[in-house]
Amino acid sequence: MGSAVPGLFLLLLYLASGCWAGDCKGHRQILRGPPGYVTDGPGNYSVNGNCEWLITAPGSNYHIVLNFTFMETECTYDYLFVYDGDSYQSPLLASLSGRTLPPPIEAKSGKMLLHLFSDANYNLLGFNATYGFSLCPWDCGGHGRCDAVSSRCQCHQGWGGRDCSLPVCSTDCTQHGHGRCDEKREHCLCSSGFVGQICQLGLRDNSGVGQWWDVSYKDESFSPRTASAGVYLSSTRTFYMFGGKQK
Ligand SMILES: *[C@@H]1O[C@H](CO)[C@@H](O)[C@H](O)[C@H]1NC(C)=O
Ligand SMILES: *[C@@H]1O[C@H](CO)[C@@H](O)[C@H](O)[C@H]1NC(C)=O
Ligand SMILES: *[C@@H]1O[C@H](CO)[C@@H](O)[C@H](O)[C@H]1NC(C)=O
Repeated sequence: MGSAVPGLFLLLLYLASGCWAGDCKGHRQILRGPPGYVTDGPGNYSVNGNCEWLITAPGSNYHIVLNFTFMETECTYDYLFVYDGDSYQSPLLASLSGRTLPPPIEAKSGKMLLHLFSDANYNLLGFNATYGFSLCPWDCGGHGRCDAVSSRCQCHQGWGGRDCSLPVCSTDCTQHGHGRCDEKREHCLCSSGFVGQICQLGLRDNSGVGQWWDVSYKDESFSPRTASAGVYLSSTRTFYMFGGKQK
């Protein structure tokens, strides 16, 4: 008699949340926040799942920033795709798989579509991410104030760039002795043979191997990739990238 109660409770929980534990084939959930979070729910997602969440900001002039708190899918088989828009035809921002916590992701169209695809076996925990809306890029990165009239960031002292993500570089660039600050004081100019945000990576030795580095942060000339690795071969003066996905 007592055992019927937890069963009923679970059924109600299942019905109430609609898209629980990834069992939401063909179902799209609309999230309007703000600010809120998006997750496939507690426990493991289902096998053969196709779940969709559409985050919708109050207008197309809003940026949506997604910030993961955990991520776990079967590496290279189960994917979370993130689009800048409301359909699979919208620009793909990320294709995420595995257990590496992704960096924050931004959509600029006022809409962000998440699609969780899982194959026939190994269903893992899934993901959880917070999201927020802002009229300014990256919501001014926690280092500035968004001016709603101009949609521009007013950066706190010591920070620069469109989204206040760049430390004013006069001290940083020289930190490793391989760079200097450029005139606009917004990024480092590295001495020959050095790369990286603060010119910390030497191209002529193996220091930093096996770790992740920002070679160029939000540089428009690099398109989005996930989980890629790179190596510089001085013999051919070429930088090779492996893996990831390019638009
Ligand atoms: C997801 O995160 C939100 C807040 O960050 C939390 O309230 C919620 O319980 C989490 N859900 C899961 C399934 O982890
Ligand atoms: C993302 O969330 C974490 C806490 O879960 C917080 O420490 C971090 O500052 C957030 N990053 C952004 C860009 O919002
Ligand atoms: C559920 O996920 C955990 C990892 O979070 C995994 O160890 C377990 O095998 C999964 N369960 C199933 C039935 O796949």
